[in-house]
Amino acid sequence: MDITLINLIKQYNDTDKPVLNDISIKIPEGGTYSIVGPSGSGKSTLLNLIGTLDFPNSGEVKLGSIVTANASSKELEEIRNRKIGFVFQTHMLLPQLTVLENILLPVLPRGKVHQEGALERAKALLNEVGLSNKIDSFPGKMSIGECQRVAVVRSLINEPDLLLADEPTGSLDRESATKLTDLLLKLQSQYNFTLITVTHSLELANQMGVTYNLVDGKITQN
Ligand SMILES: Nc1ncnc2c1ncn2[C@@H]1O[C@H](COP(=O)(O)OP(=O)(O)O)[C@@H](O)[C@H]1O
Ligand SMILES: [Mg+2]
Repeated sequence: MDITLINLIKQYNDTDKPVLNDISIKIPEGGTYSIVGPSGSGKSTLLNLIGTLDFPNSGEVKLGSIVTANASSKELEEIRNRKIGFVFQTHMLLPQLTVLENILLPVLPRGKVHQEGALERAKALLNEVGLSNKIDSFPGKMSIGECQRVAVVRSLINEPDLLLADEPTGSLDRESATKLTDLLLKLQSQYNFTLITVTHSLELANQMGVTYNLVDGKITQN
């Protein structure tokens, strides 16, 4: 699923200048990308537009051949559930559910065949992130770094084509941040999804294949 942004303009209110001001890029599938830029430069805004969580004032976001602004809400739900994984700065695991139950939540809307493979996929992914022994643990009893690794597993349980990570290491200490970055890259090369990471960590950004700079509503490639 290639991502194509065409003349994107995003402005939250008429009086402010546009957060994104005529952005056009093509992001071929299967690579690793970072988006860097100062706080407030519109990184999350851009990620939300790609993730169909929000829409531009003008211009197009195309996921494969689908123009997100023209898709029905049912189509968008399916795209978000099946094609895109999301990881945020905080893990957003539900405290009353175990690790396994949290991971399986995105599988609930899916058909039976897909659900049947989900337990095996969950176990395999937990093994990849080194947390097989935490499968029945509750998030409150785990470190933030471990919870963030579970959030990564949850984001991949439906085998997305695209993983969007908004400041995924922003709440982590240096050691956990390095570990999470290594994991994201390992999983990307194994499963071959497109990885787009928003970050203000240059260390993280530099490990991605392509780095985009977002400044004053414009994007440039490093
Ligand atoms: N829902 C919103 N309503 C109004 N303004 C917003 C909204 N979301 C973000 N903004 C504004 O848009 C700008 C870019 O925000 P954001 O995309 O969160 O930047 P970044 O992620 O790079 O820190 C900021 O000035 C912010 O205040
Ligand atoms: Mg942000």
